Amino acid sequence: MKPEVVAIVAVAKNGVIGAEGGLPWRISGDLKRFKALTMGKPLIMGRRTFEALPRPLLGRELVIVTRRPSLSAPGARFARSPDEALEIAREIARASGAKEICIGGGGEIYRALLEATDRVELTEIDLAPEGDAYLPPFDLARWRETARVAPERGPRDEADYAFVTLERRRG
Ligand SMILES: NC(=O)c1ccc[n+]([C@@H]2O[C@H](COP(=O)([O-])OP(=O)(O)OC[C@H]3O[C@@H](n4cnc5c(N)ncnc54)[C@H](OP(=O)(O)O)[C@@H]3O)[C@@H](O)[C@H]2O)c1
Repeated sequence: MKPEVVAIVAVAKNGVIGAEGGLPWRISGDLKRFKALTMGKPLIMGRRTFEALPRPLLGRELVIVTRRPSLSAPGARFARSPDEALEIAREIARASGAKEICIGGGGEIYRALLEATDRVELTEIDLAPEGDAYLPPFDLARWRETARVAPERGPRDEADYAFVTLERRRG
C-alpha cells in the first residue's frame, strides 16, 4: 500500500510560518506534537529548514531537497527536486514499513508538494507575527476538517493554539 503523505505545519492567523529562517514563536506543545507525528517516519524538508534546525532530528530519516549537488550530511539523504524526495521517501517507507511520509516544510516545500499531500496536520497559532515564509490559504472545497483539538496552554507556550487535521476530499 502507498504510504500516506502528511504535511505537518504550524501557521499563524496571517499565514506566516517562518521569519528570518526560524519560527516566530516558541510553543513547546507544538514541537512535542511534531516529534510525535514524525518519529520513525521519512521526513522531507527544504534545505533552508534543514540548515536552521537547532539540533539533529533523531529517529527520523531526513530527505533534504536542494538544487546544490555537493551537499551532504551524516544520516540524511539529498534530493534534487521535491518529486525525487517523494521517491526516496517512498523507498525508505517500503524498507522500514513506515505507513506515512512526512513533509516538514518550509514554505517552498509545502507548496511544491501540496498536490501530493493526502493529509495536513495543522497547528493554528493564535498570533499574527511578521514573517517571510507563508502557507497559502487552503481551498477548503478540496479539504475536509476531520479533527480539531485546542490543548490547554502550558507555561512554555507563547500563545494559544489548536491542532487541526485536514484530509483531502477524494472524487
Ligand atoms: N511553521 C512551520 O511549521 C515551519 C516548518 C518548517 C519550516 N518553517 C519555516 O519556514 C522557513 C523556511 O522556508 P523556505 O520556504 O524559506 O525554505 P525551505 O522550503 O525550507 O527550503 C527552500 C530550499 O529548498 C530547495 N528547493 C526548493 N524547491 C526546490 C526544487 N523545486 N528543486 C530543488 N530544490 C528545491 C532549495 O534549496 P537550495 O537553495 O539548497 O537549492 C531552496 O532554497 C523558515 O523560517 C522555517 O523556520 C516553518
